[in-house]
Amino acid sequence: MKKIFVANFKMNKTNPEVLDYIQELNNHLPESLSSDVCLCLPYTSLCLGKFLDERIAVGAQNMHEEDFGPFTGEISADMLCCLGVKYVIIGHSERRKYFNETNEKINKKIKTALRHGLKVVLCVGETKVQRNSKRTTEILSQQIESALSGIFENELKGIIIAYEPVWAIGTGKVASSEDIEEAVKTIRKLISSHYSKQAAQDQKILYGGSLTSGTAKSILKIDGICGALVGGASLDPNEFIKIIS
Ligand code: 13P
Repeated sequence: MKKIFVANFKMNKTNPEVLDYIQELNNHLPESLSSDVCLCLPYTSLCLGKFLDERIAVGAQNMHEEDFGPFTGEISADMLCCLGVKYVIIGHSERRKYFNETNEKINKKIKTALRHGLKVVLCVGETKVQRNSKRTTEILSQQIESALSGIFENELKGIIIAYEPVWAIGTGKVASSEDIEEAVKTIRKLISSHYSKQAAQDQKILYGGSLTSGTAKSILKIDGICGALVGGASLDPNEFIKIIS
């Protein structure tokens, strides 16, 4: 399976900084890039995606579930598509935590994104408290079952699931190979029971949480991991190039 690397800039970089980043990335991209790569830029920089090397896709970090209307400050799927955006992150734990995104809202957003032909990067993962109380499987099941409610099997090809344990995000603590492998198995089991064995086998699953060029190799070797969703380490173009190379 082709590897996928998604950079999540979060709320970082002004437009001049993004332009510098793009120049550096374009100049140092390996000629033989064999993975799918996407930069999820802040909304304000999405218009700069056109300056990226054509092998790199542009993504957004969120979108609204309605097509248009009186939602001050929000961004619709159409608005993203018009800027050449191909991917959208949905259900990031920071949005669940700070912006009260519920599983129900995430499900609506996924349906809207798919209807507009956007590829969805659906984030799931447990908090430290949930892990310590052995609720990881239960939480992953809740998040995935509600996110995928009403989604047909043929639509799964438009969805990439990113396993991002909340306690590993921005903490420098990478989940162990055993924890990641177990989460991947749980996710595939869920897909298999709700759809089919084939769907479970084909499901693209990424890891996210404090991944760097130093840890990428061993994480990418984990059975069933197809790539990574990278936060902090993606903000330095040379570090991100090391990860995707
Ligand atoms: P870090 O790589 O900074 O831990 O962030 C991960 C993440 O939240 C990507 O979406």
